[in-house]
Amino acid sequence: MYLTREQEKMLRGEYGWSTAKAMEIIIKVGEALGAEELVSIAHAHVSGISYSTIGKYGLEFIRDVALGGGRARVFTTVNPGCIDYSGFSKIIDNSLLEYQKLIDKSLGEMGFKLVYTCIPYFYRPPIPGEHLAWGESSAVIFANSIYGGFTNREGGPVALAASLTGFTYKAGLHLLENRVGRVEIKLHASVSLIPISTVGLWIGEKIKTTPYIRDLRGVPLEDVKNILASAAASGNHALVIIEGLTPRGTFKLELTDKVEIEAKMLEDYVGEECSGSSILGYLGCPHTSPRELLLVTRLVRKYGKPVKGKLLVTIPAEYVRIYRDLVLELRARGVDIAAGTCPVVSRFKEKFDCVLTNSGKALFYLKRIHGMRVKLAGVEEIVKKLSNL
Ligand code: F3S
Repeated sequence: MYLTREQEKMLRGEYGWSTAKAMEIIIKVGEALGAEELVSIAHAHVSGISYSTIGKYGLEFIRDVALGGGRARVFTTVNPGCIDYSGFSKIIDNSLLEYQKLIDKSLGEMGFKLVYTCIPYFYRPPIPGEHLAWGESSAVIFANSIYGGFTNREGGPVALAASLTGFTYKAGLHLLENRVGRVEIKLHASVSLIPISTVGLWIGEKIKTTPYIRDLRGVPLEDVKNILASAAASGNHALVIIEGLTPRGTFKLELTDKVEIEAKMLEDYVGEECSGSSILGYLGCPHTSPRELLLVTRLVRKYGKPVKGKLLVTIPAEYVRIYRDLVLELRARGVDIAAGTCPVVSRFKEKFDCVLTNSGKALFYLKRIHGMRVKLAGVEEIVKKLSNL
């Protein structure tokens, strides 16, 4: 691996113990993936910071790195934690608060921006062609596919190491030659009859190379976000090239295969029937965009309080301040708001018979992690179903 003089100094420990360890991690992973050099990054996004997910050993690792002098060398954001930072939620269990706060203290000491969200592009949208080191599969796939950023799907420790050094290894999606669309995908008109996340779940499971989706015109960006997050959850995808959306110059096409997705191919991905006395409606996986928050507010105004179950909306921690009026209105209308977390990386206070959600990623993980029955539906259908109308 070729190293510059500065990178060699980092490795030798001249920038402190944590930076040297971080450099070692980046080099080892890079060498395993055939990288010949490192590349500067503009933004690191560190996932795996929820105590509920990483536990005692993860907490100790993060604390040791902070105590060892680790400091962010580039703009660095962090993924959701396991507590509701607004204190509003009655659904998310805050019993791990004490441990999460220890993690948060160390993250803050390292100079990370404590946004606690899986939509870091809301804070700093990537520029086409710039190199990033992001954890969180849904954010990675959005950065590559929509903004034309260059990032691999990093685990939390590698993204953290990249933040402390300002570099990552140059391999995988950091090279244009690996950003090649090979399977052309078209959506049949019938797909509009089925929750859109199923498209992503299907792609994730069935397509093993980089897909090129033709003609998503007319599909709102929030739905595209859901398709991408779902594909990254059910498969290994970190890039889906989308005609007219993925910035030119950030991908190549060498199409060898073609498939048209029809609604009947997606039926198995909709989930299980959702009935019973205790239904949870869940929106905000990935975290809501401002437009989605506004849409949910309008729908709750239209259909009234959720009375046939509970409705949980998860948002980035800072929305509580930035979109205070909307957040307070939703609360007043009976919606449960949780900020800086989500049910996948936290725990529930109570048991639900099943979950109705618009998110294929939530379906994928809630079934596996919490063993819940989950069904996909559109946002309006969910709000309506939980109301009295
Ligand atoms: Fe974000 Fe949690 Fe979904 S971290 S992508 S809301 S699983």
